[in-house]
Amino acid sequence: MGECWSQRPVRLNRQACNGADPLATCTESQGDAVDAADMGADLERVLVTEEEIRLRIAELAVDIWGDYEGKDLLLVGVLKGAVMVMSDLMRALPGTAPMDWMAISSYGSGTKSSGVVRILKDLDTDITDKHVLIVEDIVDSGLTLSWIRANLESRSAASVEIVTLLRKPEAAKVEVDVKYVGFDIPNEFVVGYGLDYAEKYRNLRDVGTLAPHVYT
Ligand code: PRP
Repeated sequence: MGECWSQRPVRLNRQACNGADPLATCTESQGDAVDAADMGADLERVLVTEEEIRLRIAELAVDIWGDYEGKDLLLVGVLKGAVMVMSDLMRALPGTAPMDWMAISSYGSGTKSSGVVRILKDLDTDITDKHVLIVEDIVDSGLTLSWIRANLESRSAASVEIVTLLRKPEAAKVEVDVKYVGFDIPNEFVVGYGLDYAEKYRNLRDVGTLAPHVYT
């Protein structure tokens, strides 16, 4: 049995194609992608659909490239939630730019909203004189981004700005100047497109609110 890949640009699904050329185009199947229906009662409602995300990221990519073309741009992702945004944003950019990653953890209380952060994985890149664009999935209280931004600004970057797919204005504890925002959303527990609950649901292709019975 051979295997092939559908050619649709937004969603690729691996499929079994009996006896087919491995590079041939198959009839598309939606069977193996995690979508809202797969979450059943764990999902309260979809807030932002996969298609809305795709379109908004394409708009953000154009705006970003308009601001940074010709500059020494470095995209800095914050693990783990930003992996989806980073991979889609990079591929939507009209030109090429390097990326790097940080991993951080809240220090002391164990709550991410403490705003006291320690670095688990630092950048591989010297950002002196570079234009750094921090890539995030969500700005919630703003404490994490506030700390990361200050940390990166202290390294003599030419500039440090932020792009986030989601922002919760009602949850803000500190004001963070976010240059590029995909969607402002209500102060609810959201999962999907990189966002997790206990490491689950990151691969949901939409962003949705988690039903309270999951976390209460
Ligand atoms: C999320 C998100 C931000 C942070 C935002 O990360 O990716 O980094 O929380 O919250 P804040 O605005 O209240 O500081 P999380 O700690 O959930 O880790 P993860 O990215 O590995 O899921």
